[in-house]
Amino acid sequence: MGPYHQKGCDMTGLFVVFEGADGTGKSTQVSATAQALQQAGHEVIITREPGGSDVAEALRSLVLDPTTTVDDMTETLLFAAARADHMAKTIRPALDAGKIVISDRFVGSSVAYQSAGRGVSQHVVEEINQYATGAVSPDITIVLDMDTGLADTRRDTRGTVVDRMESAPDGFQEAVRASFLVQAETAPERHLVINADQPASTITDQILTYLQTHHGVTL
Ligand code: TYD
Repeated sequence: MGPYHQKGCDMTGLFVVFEGADGTGKSTQVSATAQALQQAGHEVIITREPGGSDVAEALRSLVLDPTTTVDDMTETLLFAAARADHMAKTIRPALDAGKIVISDRFVGSSVAYQSAGRGVSQHVVEEINQYATGAVSPDITIVLDMDTGLADTRRDTRGTVVDRMESAPDGFQEAVRASFLVQAETAPERHLVINADQPASTITDQILTYLQTHHGVTL
Protein backbone atom coordinates (compact mmCIF):
# COMPACT_ATOMS: atom_id res chain seq x y z
CA MET A 1 0.00 0.00 0.00
CA GLY A 2 2.64 2.51 0.97
CA PRO A 3 5.23 3.43 -1.66
CA TYR A 4 7.02 5.61 0.81
CA HIS A 5 9.34 5.68 3.63
CA GLN A 6 12.87 4.71 3.05
CA LYS A 7 14.69 3.31 0.07
CA GLY A 8 15.64 -0.33 0.41
CA CYS A 9 13.46 -1.08 3.42
CA ASP A 10 10.91 -3.85 3.43
CA MET A 11 8.10 -2.16 5.33
CA THR A 12 4.81 -2.93 3.67
CA GLY A 13 2.20 -1.15 5.80
CA LEU A 14 0.72 2.29 5.38
CA PHE A 15 1.79 5.16 7.61
CA VAL A 16 -0.92 7.80 8.09
CA VAL A 17 -0.37 10.86 10.28
CA PHE A 18 -2.89 13.45 11.49
CA GLU A 19 -1.66 16.96 12.23
CA GLY A 20 -3.25 20.24 13.16
CA ALA A 21 -3.18 22.96 15.78
CA ASP A 22 -4.73 22.26 19.18
CA GLY A 23 -8.54 22.13 19.11
CA THR A 24 -9.01 21.12 15.45
CA GLY A 25 -10.67 17.75 16.21
CA LYS A 26 -7.78 15.43 15.40
CA SER A 27 -8.61 12.79 18.00
CA THR A 28 -12.18 12.41 16.70
CA GLN A 29 -10.94 11.92 13.15
CA VAL A 30 -8.19 9.52 14.19
CA SER A 31 -10.77 7.26 15.90
CA ALA A 32 -13.38 7.51 13.14
CA THR A 33 -10.87 6.79 10.38
CA ALA A 34 -9.37 3.83 12.23
CA GLN A 35 -12.80 2.39 12.96
CA ALA A 36 -13.87 2.59 9.30
CA LEU A 37 -10.64 0.93 8.15
CA GLN A 38 -10.97 -1.83 10.76
CA GLN A 39 -14.54 -2.47 9.71
CA ALA A 40 -13.30 -2.86 6.14
CA GLY A 41 -11.01 -5.64 7.41
CA HIS A 42 -7.68 -3.81 7.70
CA GLU A 43 -5.28 -4.30 10.58
CA VAL A 44 -4.93 -0.85 12.09
CA ILE A 45 -3.06 0.52 15.06
CA ILE A 46 -3.79 3.93 16.53
CA THR A 47 -0.95 5.70 18.24
CA ARG A 48 -0.03 9.24 19.30
CA GLU A 49 2.81 11.65 19.91
CA PRO A 50 4.31 12.55 22.21
CA GLY A 51 3.80 8.97 23.39
CA GLY A 52 2.87 5.68 21.79
CA SER A 53 5.40 3.54 23.65
CA ASP A 54 6.42 3.13 27.31
CA VAL A 55 9.43 5.48 27.39
CA ALA A 56 7.73 7.98 25.07
CA GLU A 57 4.66 8.13 27.33
CA ALA A 58 6.95 8.84 30.31
CA LEU A 59 8.62 11.61 28.31
CA ARG A 60 5.16 12.96 27.40
CA SER A 61 4.35 13.59 31.07
CA LEU A 62 7.64 15.39 31.47
CA VAL A 63 7.52 17.56 28.35
CA LEU A 64 3.85 18.59 28.73
CA ASP A 65 3.94 19.19 32.50
CA PRO A 66 2.51 22.72 32.96
CA THR A 67 4.39 23.18 36.23
CA THR A 68 7.83 22.99 34.62
CA THR A 69 9.81 25.23 32.29
CA VAL A 70 11.85 23.70 29.47
CA ASP A 71 14.16 25.59 27.14
CA ASP A 72 13.47 25.35 23.43
CA MET A 73 16.31 23.01 22.46
CA THR A 74 15.60 20.69 25.37
CA GLU A 75 11.96 20.61 24.30
CA THR A 76 12.96 19.79 20.71
CA LEU A 77 15.21 16.97 21.88
CA LEU A 78 12.64 15.55 24.31
CA PHE A 79 9.98 15.34 21.57
CA ALA A 80 12.58 13.74 19.28
CA ALA A 81 13.68 11.26 21.96
CA ALA A 82 10.08 10.24 22.54
CA ARG A 83 9.69 9.85 18.76
CA ALA A 84 12.76 7.62 18.46
CA ASP A 85 11.37 5.24 21.09
CA HIS A 86 7.91 5.35 19.48
CA MET A 87 9.40 4.56 16.07
CA ALA A 88 11.55 1.70 17.30
CA LYS A 89 8.96 0.00 19.49
CA THR A 90 5.61 0.77 17.90
CA ILE A 91 5.60 2.29 14.40
CA ARG A 92 8.33 0.34 12.65
CA PRO A 93 7.27 -3.12 13.90
CA ALA A 94 3.66 -2.45 12.88
CA LEU A 95 4.65 -1.23 9.39
CA ASP A 96 6.95 -4.22 9.00
CA ALA A 97 3.98 -6.43 9.85
CA GLY A 98 1.96 -4.79 7.04
CA LYS A 99 -0.41 -2.85 9.29
CA ILE A 100 -1.93 0.57 8.79
CA VAL A 101 -0.42 2.87 11.41
CA ILE A 102 -2.42 5.97 12.29
CA SER A 103 -0.49 8.43 14.41
CA ASP A 104 -1.97 11.48 16.10
CA ARG A 105 0.98 13.84 15.34
CA PHE A 106 4.54 13.17 14.13
CA VAL A 107 7.58 15.18 12.89
CA GLY A 108 5.31 17.84 11.33
CA SER A 109 4.34 18.86 14.86
CA SER A 110 7.97 19.45 15.79
CA VAL A 111 8.43 21.61 12.69
CA ALA A 112 5.25 23.55 13.53
CA TYR A 113 5.62 23.91 17.31
CA GLN A 114 9.37 23.88 17.97
CA SER A 115 10.46 25.66 14.79
CA ALA A 116 7.60 27.96 13.70
CA GLY A 117 6.26 28.34 17.25
CA ARG A 118 9.38 28.49 19.41
CA GLY A 119 11.90 29.65 16.82
CA VAL A 120 14.34 26.73 16.67
CA SER A 121 15.90 26.53 13.19
CA GLN A 122 13.78 24.35 10.89
CA HIS A 123 16.91 22.77 9.47
CA VAL A 124 18.02 21.74 12.96
CA VAL A 125 14.57 20.35 13.83
CA GLU A 126 14.48 18.35 10.59
CA GLU A 127 18.01 17.06 11.04
CA ILE A 128 17.43 15.90 14.62
CA ASN A 129 14.25 14.16 13.51
CA GLN A 130 15.98 12.37 10.64
CA TYR A 131 18.02 10.63 13.30
CA ALA A 132 15.05 10.09 15.61
CA THR A 133 12.93 8.41 12.93
CA GLY A 134 15.65 6.60 11.01
CA ALA A 135 14.34 8.64 8.05
CA VAL A 136 10.96 6.90 8.05
CA SER A 137 8.31 9.39 6.93
CA PRO A 138 4.52 9.19 6.60
CA ASP A 139 2.88 8.09 3.35
CA ILE A 140 0.26 10.71 3.97
CA THR A 141 -0.19 13.51 6.47
CA ILE A 142 -3.73 14.75 6.96
CA VAL A 143 -3.75 18.36 8.14
CA LEU A 144 -6.92 19.48 9.91
CA ASP A 145 -7.04 23.20 9.30
CA MET A 146 -9.23 25.70 11.09
CA ASP A 147 -9.39 29.38 11.94
CA THR A 148 -7.24 29.83 15.04
CA GLY A 149 -9.91 31.74 16.99
CA LEU A 150 -12.41 28.95 16.43
CA ALA A 151 -9.91 26.28 17.47
CA ASP A 152 -9.17 28.30 20.64
CA THR A 153 -12.86 28.40 21.51
CA ARG A 154 -13.21 24.67 20.96
CA ARG A 155 -10.20 24.05 23.17
CA ASP A 156 -11.55 26.29 25.92
CA THR A 157 -14.93 24.53 25.97
CA ARG A 158 -13.33 21.07 25.94
CA GLY A 159 -12.63 21.41 29.64
CA THR A 160 -9.42 19.35 29.75
CA VAL A 161 -6.35 20.39 31.68
CA VAL A 162 -4.21 22.86 29.76
CA ASP A 163 -0.79 21.36 29.01
CA ARG A 164 2.47 23.35 28.81
CA MET A 165 2.29 23.74 25.01
CA GLU A 166 -1.29 25.03 25.11
CA SER A 167 -0.32 27.82 27.47
CA ALA A 168 2.13 29.26 24.91
CA PRO A 169 1.82 33.00 24.16
CA ASP A 170 -0.63 34.71 21.76
CA GLY A 171 0.32 34.22 18.14
CA PHE A 172 1.80 30.81 18.80
CA GLN A 173 -1.19 28.83 17.49
CA GLU A 174 -1.31 31.12 14.41
CA ALA A 175 2.33 30.29 13.66
CA VAL A 176 1.65 26.59 14.18
CA ARG A 177 -1.32 26.66 11.81
CA ALA A 178 0.63 28.56 9.14
CA SER A 179 3.50 26.08 9.39
CA PHE A 180 1.26 23.09 8.74
CA LEU A 181 -0.10 24.83 5.64
CA VAL A 182 3.40 25.62 4.37
CA GLN A 183 4.52 22.03 5.00
CA ALA A 184 1.55 20.82 2.95
CA GLU A 185 2.28 23.27 0.11
CA THR A 186 5.91 22.19 0.05
CA ALA A 187 5.04 18.49 -0.41
CA PRO A 188 1.47 18.40 -1.77
CA GLU A 189 1.73 14.74 -2.85
CA ARG A 190 2.23 13.72 0.78
CA HIS A 191 -0.36 15.98 2.43
CA LEU A 192 -4.12 16.35 2.46
CA VAL A 193 -5.39 19.63 3.93
CA ILE A 194 -8.98 19.49 5.16
CA ASN A 195 -11.20 22.32 6.34
CA ALA A 196 -11.85 21.17 9.92
CA ASP A 197 -14.84 23.47 10.34
CA GLN A 198 -17.24 20.93 8.85
CA PRO A 199 -19.34 18.16 10.37
CA ALA A 200 -17.13 15.33 11.67
CA SER A 201 -18.72 12.73 9.39
CA THR A 202 -18.08 14.88 6.28
CA ILE A 203 -14.41 15.15 7.24
CA THR A 204 -14.11 11.39 7.79
CA ASP A 205 -15.69 10.74 4.38
CA GLN A 206 -13.15 13.04 2.72
CA ILE A 207 -10.28 11.24 4.43
CA LEU A 208 -11.53 7.78 3.48
CA THR A 209 -12.15 8.77 -0.13
CA TYR A 210 -8.61 10.13 -0.34
CA LEU A 211 -7.06 6.97 1.10
CA GLN A 212 -9.09 4.90 -1.33
CA THR A 213 -8.18 6.87 -4.44
CA HIS A 214 -4.56 7.76 -3.65
CA HIS A 215 -3.37 4.78 -1.61
CA GLY A 216 -5.44 1.91 -2.91
CA VAL A 217 -7.04 1.28 0.47
CA THR A 218 -10.11 -0.92 0.00
CA LEU A 219 -13.29 0.07 1.82
P1 TYD B 1 -1.64 16.39 21.75
O1 TYD B 1 -1.68 15.23 22.66
O2 TYD B 1 -1.96 16.15 20.31
O3 TYD B 1 -2.55 17.50 22.37
P2 TYD B 1 -3.95 17.98 21.88
O4 TYD B 1 -4.84 16.76 21.90
O5 TYD B 1 -4.27 18.99 22.94
O6 TYD B 1 -3.77 18.55 20.52
O7 TYD B 1 -0.21 17.05 21.78
C1 TYD B 1 0.27 17.63 22.94
C2 TYD B 1 0.98 18.92 22.66
O8 TYD B 1 2.34 18.67 22.26
C3 TYD B 1 0.34 19.75 21.56
O9 TYD B 1 0.17 21.07 22.05
C4 TYD B 1 1.38 19.74 20.47
C5 TYD B 1 2.68 19.50 21.18
N1 TYD B 1 3.74 18.86 20.37
C6 TYD B 1 4.91 19.58 20.08
O10 TYD B 1 5.06 20.73 20.47
N2 TYD B 1 5.89 18.98 19.34
C7 TYD B 1 5.79 17.69 18.90
O11 TYD B 1 6.72 17.17 18.23
C8 TYD B 1 4.59 16.96 19.21
C9 TYD B 1 4.41 15.56 18.75
C10 TYD B 1 3.58 17.58 19.94
